[in-house]
Amino acid sequence: MRVKKAVIPAAGFGTRMLPATKSIPKEMLPLVDRPSIHYIVEEAVSSGIEEILIIISRGKEAVCDYFDYTPELEEKLKKSGREEDAAALRAIADMAKVTFIRQKEQHGLGHAVAQAKTFTGDEPFAVLLGDDVMEGNPPVTRQLLDVFEETGAPVVGVAEVPTSEIHRYCSLGVTPVSERVMEVHQLVEKPTPEQVLSNYAILGRYVLTRDIYPILEGLSTGFGGEIQLTDGLNELCRQSKLFALAYQGTRYDTGNLRGYLEAQVKLALQHPDVGAWFAEFLKTL
Ligand code: UTP
Repeated sequence: MRVKKAVIPAAGFGTRMLPATKSIPKEMLPLVDRPSIHYIVEEAVSSGIEEILIIISRGKEAVCDYFDYTPELEEKLKKSGREEDAAALRAIADMAKVTFIRQKEQHGLGHAVAQAKTFTGDEPFAVLLGDDVMEGNPPVTRQLLDVFEETGAPVVGVAEVPTSEIHRYCSLGVTPVSERVMEVHQLVEKPTPEQVLSNYAILGRYVLTRDIYPILEGLSTGFGGEIQLTDGLNELCRQSKLFALAYQGTRYDTGNLRGYLEAQVKLALQHPDVGAWFAEFLKTL
């Protein structure tokens, strides 16, 4: 079944990026010349997604504005001969059919995903976390969708993280199916050393079906007092099949300062206008 819808949870407080996120949504912090959420929406669209629900919260209206038309600004640019710039602004709003919903209280990622129930209805959907920027060819979401279309079962995007880091993620118990695909039989969020099942962790991308909703709605709070999507997936894989794909690509966790700076430098070096200059500049430091 072809997947046309995606959900981008972007309602979190972004406390690891304070003080910037005191008044700017972390998804609107720029990576070179565009906000990080632009890259996430681009990945969804280039994976074949047509409709996107972005889950926001109070104070994140700038995210909605970014995907809206700006007729006055476009008119001004056109009048000064900058037709291309005006068209580029319009193209952002036309990338996909983007809609928004507010998560009224931040009860965690599982609670955020549950807000998408009406939007997705009976259709399967991709989930792209708002602060995980991915470089992949094909795009990482496309790689997951290929597995979903082949198996018809939910898929999570995973990568191996160092043993010293796994306590920050969720650890997966898996059995290999093919070179990059595994079947998931257990998940633990933020595991203690004794709870670690493997070094495979979910990193920001999922393809889910409506089966997740009754599970999320029945969950009690987990790690950190939040409704954890990991706990929902742990129940899901008991009820039905859940696959993990060790995707090919690079992930930047732009929700923390180091990941944000890595993404900034890598993307600046690739930028057609400033990349070569920036490489020279770095050499002078
Ligand atoms: P994170 O824990 O990485 O984001 O959640 P956060 O809570 O914004 O960040 P810190 O820890 O305070 O710095 C993973 C994803 O889930 C979303 C976040 O926006 C992020 O994309 N999220 C999290 C929600 O949408 N709602 C929530 O209640 C919690």
